[in-house]
This record gives sequence, structure tokens and C-alpha cells, in this order.
Amino acid sequence: MAAAVWLQSYVSSFFFIFAATFIAFSGLLLLVRWRPWCNCSVCRAYLSSTWTAEFDNLCDWYAHLLRQSPTGTVQIHVLGNTITANPDNVEYMLKTNFDNFPKGKPFSTILGDLLGHGIFNVDGEAWRFQRKMASLELGSASLRSYAFRIVSGEVHHRLLPLLAFVSDPSGDNTVELQDVFRRFAFDTVCKISFGLDPGCLELSLPMSEFAMAFDRASTLLARRGATIAPLVWKLKRFLNVGSERELRRSIRRVNVLADEVIRQRRVLGSASGHDLLSRFMSSVEDDRYLRDIVISFLLAGRDTVASSLTSVFFLLSQHPKVVAAIRDEVAAVTKGKDENDEVPTYEQLKGMHYVTAVLHESLRLYPPVQFDSKFCLEDDVLPDGTMVTKNARVTYHPYAMGRMERIWGSDCFDFKPERWLRDGLFTPEGLFKYPVFQAGLRVCLGKEMALMEMKAVIVSVVPRFDIEVINGGRSPHFTPGLTATITGGLSVRVHRRTATACE
Ligand code: HEM
Repeated sequence: MAAAVWLQSYVSSFFFIFAATFIAFSGLLLLVRWRPWCNCSVCRAYLSSTWTAEFDNLCDWYAHLLRQSPTGTVQIHVLGNTITANPDNVEYMLKTNFDNFPKGKPFSTILGDLLGHGIFNVDGEAWRFQRKMASLELGSASLRSYAFRIVSGEVHHRLLPLLAFVSDPSGDNTVELQDVFRRFAFDTVCKISFGLDPGCLELSLPMSEFAMAFDRASTLLARRGATIAPLVWKLKRFLNVGSERELRRSIRRVNVLADEVIRQRRVLGSASGHDLLSRFMSSVEDDRYLRDIVISFLLAGRDTVASSLTSVFFLLSQHPKVVAAIRDEVAAVTKGKDENDEVPTYEQLKGMHYVTAVLHESLRLYPPVQFDSKFCLEDDVLPDGTMVTKNARVTYHPYAMGRMERIWGSDCFDFKPERWLRDGLFTPEGLFKYPVFQAGLRVCLGKEMALMEMKAVIVSVVPRFDIEVINGGRSPHFTPGLTATITGGLSVRVHRRTATACE
């Protein structure tokens, strides 16, 4: 008995001393990293949060600072972060000197528990191998048509019936659109990646265990990324307490479900499906690695699409002329098919130049990935003369770049799809001044798929429904995270248009 009491007190003392040393050490490291002695006006505003008096979102404050900077680059010393909105710097990081700007260890440590060695989370050879394999598959005509079938089915059999149900005059006509698009995007990306249908967008809006666990895991990971002192979450993970305990549980649930899908697919054989998992199975033997690869796709393709669609409908609710022009283009391209027809074909979607311009313009103002950081491998000098040291964080900022007069002109804050059209044809801009899908060697692999998916939604919903944002005048407030998410969602009223109005 005495021995047990002694052992218990010995173990608790050990943990107490360990935790105290760890916290003291973290504090010290934090101090060195933070450089709280930096007294420049930007660092003071950051530390005292005085920027919140003028700006709703941190990204709006950064955009303001970047507009003021002659080089389009600022350094937040207390964070050890160099932020740039200068297209030459972006090109240098993402292409010219790509090898010196990997994602780096800090990023992969944050996401590693969920993403393992998936493409999103690795550098070097592991990345090159997956990139090659994934670009072959994503570039193939057969995956394109498989993805198109999935998206059309989800739009036609779930999204449109749900909006029709909401718009029924006997109800209150309101729905939270961001949630609808998150469900839509999760169903489609799961089907495309795993061949698994979580059915989140069924009329009853059910809670899927997989979606909930995945959601929780990505939210908690984003929180890890937002903490100023990474050692705090590392300690919590080590002790398996609080949010880290919950995160571990959510990740375990995601993994169990993913492993089960992979196990079943192995039994049936890789030829049994057209999804990415089935395609990757022939090149990857290790099931754990396979799981990592496919989960990266879920993370990459879900919230980005949901966030983009939410912003498009937010902007459309303020621009009735753009809505009318979309309806005109859809009617012209589909030659007035009646509204029971399927989603327009892949080729028809491609031919809708105005809709493509609307999407690009919306993504310019509200990119789902507002900023993206790399970690410098060796000391370097950016093209604008900014010096960056080994291990420093360097961030390019698509949100700010979309709001720079020197890039887009004095009307940079206006929503003007026409800026993307030349003689009625969509004309893309340089990727380094518009790195919404990143650019250079690691440019997004799902770009074409995402554009197709979002266009399919716009051209199906806009002609059939009027979507009115409740409290639409307010500019969005974003929740800090990996992807831009509007705090509190986007509540809308849905009104069904009459058959004649749809033509
Ligand atoms: C509007 C929608 C989307 C946007 C704005 C977007 C944007 C981005 C960005 C900024 C990156 C670079 C992230 C980083 O390296 O930290 C990226 C990478 C990636 N995206 Fe997307 N994405 C979208 C949709 C999708 C979809 C639907 C998929 C596939 C299902 C996808 C697959 C990927 C993959 C696999 C990567 C990693 C590429 C690599 O590291 O080589 N994305 N995307």
C-alpha cells in the first residue's frame, strides 16, 4: 500500500516537474520567436490587437499594410513572418527558386496527424512521386467524365431538390447556404476520392459520422495553426488532454472509416471503381500511405469549393445585373432547354465564358485560401530586395493581392466580371498575380475539377432560384482557419422562379 502511494506521488511529481520545465522552456522559446521587444508600429498593433478598431478581419488589415508598402511586402517581426503581395516575389517563391521555399516542417507537423504523408503535407521525393501519379489521373479524360457525372448527380438529385424544398411558400424559405455547400462539396469530394457517398445533402440534412469527424479534425488542426505558441498544443498532445484529445479521437474515427473503405476496395479489386482511390491502388501497395494520399484530397477539395460557392452567391445577391447576365448566357448556351433537363454538359459549361469570368472575379475578391506560407530553407533575397533568413516563414497573400490597385487598377474593390473578358471570351490573367490556386510547380491539381463543379452549381441554381442574402449589406467576417469560412454562415431566403422566368 505504502509502495503504491509512493509510486503515485513519484509519478505525479515527475509529471509536474516535466510539465513545469516544458512550459518554462516553451515560454523562453516563444519569447525568442516572438521578439516581443520589437516596438515597430505594425508589431505593436498586432500584439495589442488595435488593428481590430479599423478592420473586421486580419486579412483586411494585412491587405491595407501591403497596399501601403512600396514593395508590396511587409514583415511582422513578432511572428517572424514576411508577407508579400508582390507578383515577382510570388513567382520567385513558387517557381524560380521553388526548392528554397518548401512547405517546411512547421506546416507538416500541424497537419501531419490527419494527413500523414499525403501530397498536401510533404516536400521532396514523396511529393514528386504523388504529384506525378495524381496529375496523370486528374488529367485523364475518364476521371474528368466520372467527376462530371458525380457532380451532375449531386446537383440534380440533391442540391436542386433541397433548394426547391426550402423555397416552398408554406415554409420560411430560409437556409444556411454555407452549410449546404459544405455538405454538397463533402458528398462530391468523397465520391470522387473514395467512391463513398456520405449523403450529407439528403433532404433531411443528416449528420454523417465521417463528415463530423473530418470537420472536427480540420477545425482543431486549423486552431493548432492559429496558436502563437505551438509548444502549447504539442504539450497538450503529449499529455493527451483538452482539444488534442478530441482531435486524436476525431482523427481515429476518420481513419477507421477510411481504412474500412480501403479494405472493402481491396477485396473487390482496383478495377471495381473509377474513383481516385481505385486508381491509386494499382501504384501504391501500402494501405496507410494510400489512406494519407486520399485524405489529402478530401481536405484540399472540400472547404475550398464550399467557401468559393458561398462567396459567389454572397456577391451575386448584391449584383442583380450579373445575375441577369448569367441567366442570359445559360439560356443562350443551353438553347432554352426546359428546367427538368440535366445540368448542362461538360462542353457547354466550358463554353460559358461569362460564368467563368464571374467565378474568377469572385475568387479574386474572396479566395478560399487567403494566404499560404512556405519556410525558407536557406537565407535568400526576394526580387523586391526583402531579405529572408533560413527557417523564416514567407507568406504570399492572394486575398491582399486581389485588393491591390497596382495589380488590378483603381476599381480593384469592385466586382466586375467583365475585367476577365476580351471580345466576350474569358481571358486568364498571369498566375503569379492571381495565385488563388497557387501557381508554379505546386499549382492546385484540382483546379479544373473545382471550376467545373462550381460552374455546374451556378448555372443550375441561378436560372431556377432567386437567392436573397439576409442582412446582405454586411461584409463577411471570417473565422481564422485553413480555408476562408464566414463566421455564422450565410443565411439566405430562397425563392423559386416561375417556369417562364427561367427561360
Ligand atoms: C476553389 C477550389 C480550390 C482552390 C481555390 C484551391 C486552391 C489550392 C491551393 C492554394 C493549393 C496550394 C496549397 C498549398 O500548397 O499549401 C492547392 C493545392 C492542391 N489542391 Fe486545390 N484548390 C481548390 C480545389 C481543389 C479540388 C476540388 C481538389 C481535388 C479534389 C484540389 C486538389 C489539390 C491538391 C491535390 C493540391 C496539392 C498540390 C501539390 O501540393 O502539389 N483542389 N489548391
